[in-house]
Amino acid sequence: MKVLAVANQKGGVGKTTTSVNLAAGLAAKGQSVLLVDLDPQGNATSAVGAELENPPTLYGPLTGASEVGTCLSPTRIPHLTLIAANIDLAGLEIEVARMDDHLLQIRRALQPLREADAFDFAILDCPPSLGILMTNALVAADQLLVPVQCEYYALEGLGKLMFVMGQIRESGANPDLTLSGLLMTMFDRRTNLAEAVVKDVRAHFQEVLYDTVIPRTVRLSEAPSFGRTIFEHDPRGPGAEAYGKLAREFLKRHEDKLAFVNA
Ligand SMILES: Nc1ncnc2c1ncn2[C@@H]1O[C@H](COP(=O)(O)OP(=O)(O)O)[C@@H](O)[C@H]1O
Ligand SMILES: [Mg+2]
Repeated sequence: MKVLAVANQKGGVGKTTTSVNLAAGLAAKGQSVLLVDLDPQGNATSAVGAELENPPTLYGPLTGASEVGTCLSPTRIPHLTLIAANIDLAGLEIEVARMDDHLLQIRRALQPLREADAFDFAILDCPPSLGILMTNALVAADQLLVPVQCEYYALEGLGKLMFVMGQIRESGANPDLTLSGLLMTMFDRRTNLAEAVVKDVRAHFQEVLYDTVIPRTVRLSEAPSFGRTIFEHDPRGPGAEAYGKLAREFLKRHEDKLAFVNA
């Protein structure tokens, strides 16, 4: 089981949209995927688990009250399992912060799944801050995928994220953490700015940047309000095409063992 954290401390850059649709894209290719919602807002949970009634969250395993195996919610999507989130996770930050080894708690909670090789991939949708849950996710992950919005200040904050990644490696908490890549999101082909931003980022980061660029489409933004992935909501549109392509490129990088130490 490979664990991928989808993170960027900036909000609204496409972390959840990417977690949900990459997870669904991989599942559609027959990979068994666990989507772990770590954001107390629960947006990933509504996208794939809207029909679940009070699904369990990582709260139990993180407080030692239950085992992670009891928190797996099957979804309507074949090969896709969910660990849900809700607002309870907000209070959890404080509880986890008080624990010994407080950075290792998500890693510890997911360990039985790793040992059992329960899924091909676990995708962790991180909350938008450099808080306890996100740093825990980086400690729990093998790789980090960073969605970057196509806008002028796209790379603002990226240095900080890379610094934290380096600290996590050097502290020994997770020496093997690597970067799967950067992913440009919300690309608007009608503006020259978006084009210029992608060009600029590609010049700086070259192969660290995924070839796949996610377009800005209304379909991607409205899919969650219907409780659907893009493959259900607009299977033939450009959003589904892009996330399908991302899933292929992600698998290819995985097979080629392509990973980077830093951006
Ligand atoms: N490619 C896209 N095209 C249009 N809207 C998008 C796209 N990606 C994300 N959005 C919308 O932008 C907002 C922020 O995206 P989200 O994935 O929730 O970001 P994050 O998880 O980083 O906060 C949401 O309303 C989402 O539906
Ligand atoms: Mg989100």
